[in-house]
Amino acid sequence: VARAGAHEKLRSLGASAAATKKYPEQEDVRGSESNTTRKTFQELQKERQKQAQHTVLINCPSKINEKKFLKYLSQYGKINSHFFYESYGTHAVVEFSEKESIESLQAQASIPSSDDESAVPFKSRLFALKLASALEVSGNQPSIQLQKQLTIPINKLIQKLCLAESIEQQLYILTEEHQLTDENLRLRFLVCSLIRDVATAYFPESAVIPFGSSVNTFGKLGCDLDMFLDLDAVERGRMKKASGTFSIEYQMKCVPSGRVATQRILSVISECLDSFGPGCISVQKILNARCPLVRFSHQPAGFQCDLTANNRVAMRSSELLYIYGSLDPRVRALVFSIRCWARVHGITSTIPGSWITNFSLTMMVLFFLQKRNPPIIPTLDQLKNLAGAADKHIVEGNDCTFVSDLSQIKLSENTETLDVLLSEFLEFYGNFAFNKNSINIRKGKEQNKPAVSPLYIQNPFEQTLNISKNVNQAQLERFVALARDSSWILQQENMGHPSIGSTQPWGMAALLLPSAALSANKDKKKRQRGPASERIKSLLESLKTNHLSGNSTADNG
Ligand code: CTP
Ligand code: MG
Repeated sequence: VARAGAHEKLRSLGASAAATKKYPEQEDVRGSESNTTRKTFQELQKERQKQAQHTVLINCPSKINEKKFLKYLSQYGKINSHFFYESYGTHAVVEFSEKESIESLQAQASIPSSDDESAVPFKSRLFALKLASALEVSGNQPSIQLQKQLTIPINKLIQKLCLAESIEQQLYILTEEHQLTDENLRLRFLVCSLIRDVATAYFPESAVIPFGSSVNTFGKLGCDLDMFLDLDAVERGRMKKASGTFSIEYQMKCVPSGRVATQRILSVISECLDSFGPGCISVQKILNARCPLVRFSHQPAGFQCDLTANNRVAMRSSELLYIYGSLDPRVRALVFSIRCWARVHGITSTIPGSWITNFSLTMMVLFFLQKRNPPIIPTLDQLKNLAGAADKHIVEGNDCTFVSDLSQIKLSENTETLDVLLSEFLEFYGNFAFNKNSINIRKGKEQNKPAVSPLYIQNPFEQTLNISKNVNQAQLERFVALARDSSWILQQENMGHPSIGSTQPWGMAALLLPSAALSANKDKKKRQRGPASERIKSLLESLKTNHLSGNSTADNG
């Protein structure tokens, strides 16, 4: 009864929040344009890729006169857009209107010389702007505006959330703070395009395409950059029909399997990036993973990059998430908030291991939203039924078909507020029968678990795989315990809304307080979790298991 009462209170508060300012979302991948005018995932990707090919990255002196800088570069051609940011020095991203401008810039650029080092003369679109004389730097330059590339610290975020008017508003504020900015997204596509320049030296028709959270609408500032090398981007488009007596094919080197071919190609690209890829450092080959990859840091952009090859299924899962993220603003707000909550409490980690991953968490949120009554988002099977002829995709025997035109999808009649959805999410997973059931977004229904893994989330396209195979029992239990603790906190009086005259964190802000504070609150009630020593023991246990099985996120199915 008390719980139902709390819900009523939350609902009424949510309604008033909806009447106040709705947090405006920005255009394209982050957007709220109506579904009928919104671009498809493919159209957006094409547009961004083209933009990136016209763009250069320039390391600049930190005190630079923006006007003079633009005037200098304009001699090479018209500039469409530019911005500055900080990562190992000040950098400018400059998009020219014509590709030829970059060629004239390259023709003017010189090769660096130094007495004790030698440059490897690979000419890329990464430059350094040098001042002709030290006198050019004067103290009273108007300072340039630097675009943020990282999220605000968690304590600042908590403070901000405390000023909101409802939990719903808190979740939208968190999303605004964490989501990728337009500038950051441009930089991500630019890095892909720079890596492509290296790959095309061997495979002129190849493309390097971002996937994962950079493009699926769930990317957070600072997240890794997943990209894949597509070797026959051009070939695939051409229909080849044999006519007449002859047909012709290439003579090529053959290897035992597609996997071996991928490993060889990635191995060579990795050597190239390491030897002459400007800005690419700490290049690592991880070729024995289920999905072979090259991992490196792109220092001037500040991104950790994972390059895979021929990973078309992952591309489809990115598009699927893009669709879900674009359908209803509540989807992204809940996913961002749950990811943040899980990260703060160490449920997810930047290190691969037996932890739940962001990707798994996203699937769990989507599944929960499919289970609402009425559902907030459609199941994958429903999206498949809406698909047109051009949407048909069979990738390596897996059916990856679903509708790409957002205007075909009927919007949900569900009007639940995020206040309700957040607490229902915690309740749902705090009591989910993980021991019996698997999570399946294709059907939008629990299924019997086909294997013994503690957490079973069916891969929506490679349907025999479990996305969360890496997760062990201890980690799953930590997640469930946290969901229960958090759910309990939200149900406390004064937790669902700001209390006048009090600075006490409430709502989402309360859920983001360090675990110690959270369980101290919880301690007032009966403890449902083992003592700290137990938790440390289970963490050590999971580290050990992980070490023994040589797990990495890359081979999680
Ligand atoms: N992927 C997958 N199966 C997995 C892991 C990953 O299909 N077990 C695909 C998904 O399309 C995922 C992408 O690979 O989006 C990138 O994986 P990862 O970087 O782990 O997840 P992201 O969604 O990019 O999230 P994050 O922000 O944590 O990087
Ligand atoms: Mg990623």
